[in-house]
Amino acid sequence: MFEHIERVPGDAILGLIEAFKKDTNPQKVDLGVGVYRDENGTTPVMRAVKEAEARLLKNETTKTYIGSHGAPEYGKAVLPMVLGASSPVLEANRASATQSPGGTGALRLAADFIAAQLPDKGIWVSDPTWPNHLGIFSAAGIKLQKYPYVDADNRLDFDGMLAAIKQIPQGDVVVLHACCHNPTGFDLSQQQWQTVLDVVRERQLLPLIDFAYQGFGAGLDEDAYGVRLMAEQLDEVIITSSCSKNFGIYCERTGCLIMVAKDAEQMENVRSQVAIVARENYSNPPAHGGSIVSEILHDPELTAMWREELTEMRDRINTLRRDFVEALKPYGLAEKYACVAEQQGMFSYTGLTPEQVDRLRDEFGIYMVRSGRANVAGFSHANLPYLAKAIAAVND
Ligand code: LMR
Repeated sequence: MFEHIERVPGDAILGLIEAFKKDTNPQKVDLGVGVYRDENGTTPVMRAVKEAEARLLKNETTKTYIGSHGAPEYGKAVLPMVLGASSPVLEANRASATQSPGGTGALRLAADFIAAQLPDKGIWVSDPTWPNHLGIFSAAGIKLQKYPYVDADNRLDFDGMLAAIKQIPQGDVVVLHACCHNPTGFDLSQQQWQTVLDVVRERQLLPLIDFAYQGFGAGLDEDAYGVRLMAEQLDEVIITSSCSKNFGIYCERTGCLIMVAKDAEQMENVRSQVAIVARENYSNPPAHGGSIVSEILHDPELTAMWREELTEMRDRINTLRRDFVEALKPYGLAEKYACVAEQQGMFSYTGLTPEQVDRLRDEFGIYMVRSGRANVAGFSHANLPYLAKAIAAVND
């Protein structure tokens, strides 16, 4: 039965983890998968998370199922984080939260929901986008198309994006990145969000906003600008939120699918369908990550501790972005890579070509995605001189 099955290459991003581990170069640098790293290159457990876990261990009384929508307390914590504490959407009871196995799980729920409930609708993603978007939406059987996002000079192509979105057939789904665009790091300004909103409204499109990096751009509330604008101004929006990065709980698989509907009645209808999609995929989500988030966000002291740690991570990344460009100055390359200091979040579309990326890996033990995407959190003040030297070498 299995004789005809061909071996396929593994996932390009996750494959970098293994390749990096095997490399014996003592100066190797991992700029691959999107996880936060500190100055020592490690991904520590946040202090607020450790404290929440200690409390959970002490107080947990059962490990019974938590239901297809997950723990209600988790939903109650995530909704205001994403939509704002005094959101009119929450006041009107228009938003439903479904705990999911990571942001990826939320995307898959959204994809299956669209395939089942809006079967004739296509989906539009930015070019480039997170490669797994392509896999997830295609696997759900949705027709996938792309709108431009970056121009030939490695800048945000807002005009191109807008022109393409204006042509999207009425009722189709348009995927937007709330902040920290993966893979480019180019985000929309508030003015640009407003313009996109006008087009989405006029074309009657359904926005699906991927919100995987809340807190890594300009701040928890600042990063939510586009999400809140769309949710407040439109009848229907789909939001996929992740706690993997901002709580540093990657392996706990903690995300949330938020469905915003016209009113409470329609929200409950939609919610009932999402429960079925979750049930058919994995039944109930894993509980632990959601319990951590809930413990933190329902406790002012832990919330304050967590916010402080998140700010430290964000500030560190922003400092490294500027210092990276500074480190390239002696090589006359500061201008060429100035975009790195202008982009936001964990990723930078550096403009390095696939051939240059290959050379960085083979000759210097520097690992990044072949598209030229670097995880900026992998920079450190210790490795910046080495990185700058290597980049200068592959620019020769
Ligand atoms: C990334 O893009 O590196 C992260 O979102 C991790 C992943 O699953 O690809």
